[in-house]
Amino acid sequence: MVKNHWCRSVSAKLFREGFGKIMSGSFLSLSSLSLAQETQEQLPAFGDTKWKLFDVSWDAPMNTVTGLTEWSRDINNVYSITTWICVFVFFAVSIPLVYTLYRFRHKAGDQAPPKQFHGNSTLEIIWTVVPVVLLLFIAVPTWRILFKHAQVPPSAMKIEAIGHQWWWEFRYPDNGNVVTANELHVPENTPVHFTVYSEDVIHSFWIPAWGGKKDALPGHKNEITLTSPPLKNANVKGGEMYQGQCVELCGASHALMRFNAVVHSKGEFDSWVKTANSPPTVETASQKAGEEVFARCQACHTIAGTPSEQLPGNKIGPNLSNFGNRKYLGAGTRMNTPENLAQWLKNPAGIKPGNLMPNLGLTDEEIAHVSSYIRQSTTKTY
Ligand code: CUA
Repeated sequence: MVKNHWCRSVSAKLFREGFGKIMSGSFLSLSSLSLAQETQEQLPAFGDTKWKLFDVSWDAPMNTVTGLTEWSRDINNVYSITTWICVFVFFAVSIPLVYTLYRFRHKAGDQAPPKQFHGNSTLEIIWTVVPVVLLLFIAVPTWRILFKHAQVPPSAMKIEAIGHQWWWEFRYPDNGNVVTANELHVPENTPVHFTVYSEDVIHSFWIPAWGGKKDALPGHKNEITLTSPPLKNANVKGGEMYQGQCVELCGASHALMRFNAVVHSKGEFDSWVKTANSPPTVETASQKAGEEVFARCQACHTIAGTPSEQLPGNKIGPNLSNFGNRKYLGAGTRMNTPENLAQWLKNPAGIKPGNLMPNLGLTDEEIAHVSSYIRQSTTKTY
């Protein structure tokens, strides 16, 4: 078992709780800084709407070293073995190097050039065998993890994860054919067998805190089984959230192709499934007017229980059946507020450059109505 590997007791704790967090923390800060810098430089090209990516406050950092699932702990073990091997190689090379530079430095009275020689079979065998042995120490635990996590438990729940430029669609064939977008809902501590593919270019499906990732290819279905982490707070309402991110450069808005993975208690997940396909509730005059405006959206978007469901074919826009319950809009780029939705509807390209949603030229009044329809009418209690 990888868990009992000799290296684990020495290094895993130190790595995970100290070194690993410092490394991943610095990396994340650096990448955020460079993205912020890029955003500032590119602003004029995307119109007047300022990007507010960093207004989005995530509940959980995009962190691979949290060790919340067995798979992420297994990966951390291989990381820690690799790190210690690298530390060993660094000192094994640099100490003799520094010693040699000092010991054989040029001294007054030396005759140049020094004695020349060619070839040393003993040394050559040593520096071939040592790296092979070190690589085996990394390769064997890696293979073991790959085979171990390729197993699909018979009880695994099935979900399809479909990449689109630039958002995620999730389908639940075994749970009432629920379809959702940019928000994955799962019960806690449950193996989930994902079928991952793409409707356009290559994307990659990853929830960093959960473990492995898988490419989403057009025309080919990949598979990956991830086990959702247990709830940290058993009494939490509305689930605990984890960040997901597309990790294959897939076009202009690749960085804005995020999603939210929501882990529920088993009971709460069942009631989420029951309400997910219920029709919207239209109560106010504004919601009624918004329902009429939405008729212009239904060629691309579906809301369960409305005429938009009857149109044939795969829609090119996200399913909005539970939009009111979603925390973010634009695939995790902004908080789901009336102001942000209004900005999105006025100029979708200002928030997500290059996306397929056109500017429909809606008036402020129409935007207010359609916003109250798709935000309030689709808010469900579960
Ligand atoms: Cu999709 Cu990057």
